[in-house]
Amino acid sequence: MEEKYIGILTSGGDASGMNAAIRAVTRSAIFNGYRVKGIYRGYEGLIADDIKELTTEDVSNIIQRGGTILKTARSQQFTTPEGRKRAYEVMQQENISALVIIGGDGSLTGARIFAEEYDVVCIGLPGTIDNDLYGTDFTIGYDTALNTIVQCVDKIRDTATSHDRLFFVEVMGRDAGFLAQYSAIASGAEAAIIPEDRTDADQLETFINRGFRKTKNSSIVIVSESPKDGGAMHYAQRVEKEYPDYDVRVSILGHLQRGGSPSASYRILASRLGDGAVQALMAGQRNVMVGIHDNEVVYIPFTEAIKDDKPLDKSLIRILNELSI
Ligand code: F6P
Repeated sequence: MEEKYIGILTSGGDASGMNAAIRAVTRSAIFNGYRVKGIYRGYEGLIADDIKELTTEDVSNIIQRGGTILKTARSQQFTTPEGRKRAYEVMQQENISALVIIGGDGSLTGARIFAEEYDVVCIGLPGTIDNDLYGTDFTIGYDTALNTIVQCVDKIRDTATSHDRLFFVEVMGRDAGFLAQYSAIASGAEAAIIPEDRTDADQLETFINRGFRKTKNSSIVIVSESPKDGGAMHYAQRVEKEYPDYDVRVSILGHLQRGGSPSASYRILASRLGDGAVQALMAGQRNVMVGIHDNEVVYIPFTEAIKDDKPLDKSLIRILNELSI
């Protein structure tokens, strides 16, 4: 009988800790008697048959490395029925009986559709700095990005204070404010402008009206990149127009938030989730994302995990307001 393989791929934006997860899936699978194939460039590589067997040695010396050794892509082809048909054919040719997909909501949405159309077993791992997947407390890459942001804001603080300036620092997160809200608290920023706090009240005015000038000469406002709100540039331009006495600057942190070596706790998280994917397969699970909730490994159906708007703990908004007086 021909040997069956577990296929593993990373998809969407890279996240630090993906390599630790690739290592964990590969080694846990081999330990438990499976063979593993690495699929390069996400679903693009599945469609193009860019696939190679992974041995335990192939995943040596990667636990500490950012990015993904398998490379990643946002595949347009896989969003089409023709692309998914080709992907299924390649899986058959390569004897891949189950797929482990490490990625964010777009990647897991692709997996959900694929698993509905074809009789394939898909297991997802939450891999995104945005931390926006439902049912898991944390996603691979989030903590490392958060720490990078905090290190950057600490440095910006030095120059902001020296010049008595108001800085708008834009951070990633797409439509989720986790990176912005948590980094604001961790860096002692004066405010965070996040999509989850979008109300009738104008977040900029609320911040200005809190009267930060009474006690502080410099201020840092972390702005979530959320395209609907216009990002840091938008707020800086408004302040220049509406409050011309402020000396305003903008810092957009961009892709440096995605790189770097994963934090120790997230290497452990990725290792637990990677092993969890193999345990899930052995337990006959399919079409679930492996997550972490209350420090326990859990399985969340794809349909749940990719639900919009993972809730952000609103008490954090109050805490930031209280602590930034
Ligand atoms: O989803 C991860 C993420 O880094 C988002 O925070 C950001 O909006 C997006 O990817 C950027 O994507 P790209 O690398 O394609 O510019």
